[in-house]
Amino acid sequence: MILLLKLCSIVFVLKLLLPRVCHCQLLFSSNVDPDFSRTPCELIESRKFICEEHFVTTDDGYILALHHIINPVYKRLGKKLIKPLVLQHGLLGSSTHFLTNSNGGFAADWTNETVSVDLTVEGRNLAFLLANIGYDVWMPNSRGNKYSKNHTTLDPNQDSSFWQISFDEMISYDCPAVIDYVLSKTGFDHLGWIGHSQGSLIMFGMLAERPEYTDKVKPFVALAPIAHVEHIKSPIRYITLIPGAMRLVKTLGGELSLPSFLLDILSEKVCGRRIVRQVCGSALFLLCGYDPDQFNYTRTPVYYSHAMGGTSAWNLLHFGQNILNRNFLKFDYGFFGNIFRYGSLYPPAYNLEAIQSENIVLIRSNNDPFADSQDVQILKASLKHPHIDFLVQDQKFNHLDFIWAKNVYEQVYGPMLGILERFN
Ligand SMILES: *[C@@H]1O[C@H](CO)[C@@H](O)[C@H](O)[C@H]1NC(C)=O
Ligand SMILES: *[C@@H]1O[C@H](CO)[C@@H](O)[C@H](O)[C@H]1NC(C)=O
Ligand SMILES: *[C@@H]1O[C@H](CO)[C@@H](O)[C@H](O)[C@H]1NC(C)=O
Repeated sequence: MILLLKLCSIVFVLKLLLPRVCHCQLLFSSNVDPDFSRTPCELIESRKFICEEHFVTTDDGYILALHHIINPVYKRLGKKLIKPLVLQHGLLGSSTHFLTNSNGGFAADWTNETVSVDLTVEGRNLAFLLANIGYDVWMPNSRGNKYSKNHTTLDPNQDSSFWQISFDEMISYDCPAVIDYVLSKTGFDHLGWIGHSQGSLIMFGMLAERPEYTDKVKPFVALAPIAHVEHIKSPIRYITLIPGAMRLVKTLGGELSLPSFLLDILSEKVCGRRIVRQVCGSALFLLCGYDPDQFNYTRTPVYYSHAMGGTSAWNLLHFGQNILNRNFLKFDYGFFGNIFRYGSLYPPAYNLEAIQSENIVLIRSNNDPFADSQDVQILKASLKHPHIDFLVQDQKFNHLDFIWAKNVYEQVYGPMLGILERFN
């Protein structure tokens, strides 16, 4: 009996201590980059901007965190902002993806002649770059990521139905809710949408389904555009080949994420080591395309600590289904589920040909295993209205380079600023 009590108390003490120990690691390590594990608002405030965290409730009750950057210089001088821009992260991402490429990007007015900045160095964090030249920057977090894990009635830790979501619901609920919210807060009648990867997929899907939003999104810039995924080269496609894997993921459902203390250990203790950094970098290259020249190895722990924003297992499953089905389809619930949901045995396709927007900009690269060139060609062929097609010059530019490359300003953001201006 006493032994049992002792055991229990040891477990209890361990439980109390463990989370602390994992935070203490920051004290033990010598030189952790300050951006490591910072929250979106901590990142924004560290660059002397003002951060506002908004919560948007979707029609089906999900509560999304939306981070709003305010340029204090513009605020003080009462300068007019150009227009609202929404930056939408990709699969497994979060709003920190646009805030962590480099340690620069401090608040100023970069259009002011008296302020001199080297944009090739300072302009690498997309959100700070846009905020500093006068855009009103908003960064939503897709349902189920670590900042958008809340619901008006469902408990993500108790109710498995909270996790029965994929990019279908981001298309039909998150995307319109965010647009309506930002337009109502800013008083503008349209906004710009810059979506990376899945952040572009959900806009393609929404413009196909909801033509009434066509004029509200001007322009829609798709960084590493994704809609069709049947030619994906990333090894994630091999998950679809493991017998029974798809069925298992469907049955288990739930959240796809790493506990934050594990992620911290992996990013800082493991990937923080000089020799291991190379390995950690290579792991990213394996998934996202090989481009060691543009990867800042010193920041590996920062990138790892922000890479995994989390999503639902079903969301990844949905990508797997579309790889196998070779089409941009809605979620496949199985025969009975499909009849119940869609009134048909098979899930319906998103009809990209129905997109009416003439304000679409594709920014793509040749070394992107996710937004594969063949898939982008299928997407382009489906767009019935004229669009701008910008191919990145750097032939090695990969999927993550759109947010985390050293040369991202020269290759993408700089030219993109010029393109954005055409729509102002
Ligand atoms: C440019 O910056 C200077 C110094 O911060 C400030 O005094 C001035 O008002 C700014 N000019 C404009 C046009 O915003
Ligand atoms: C979830 O949302 C509810 C209702 O808005 C709020 O009261 C609660 O604090 C939120 N929980 C978390 C963990 O953010
Ligand atoms: C890489 O990141 C480190 C740490 O943030 C920074 O000091 C360094 O200047 C960066 N290197 C390049 C080439 O940008």
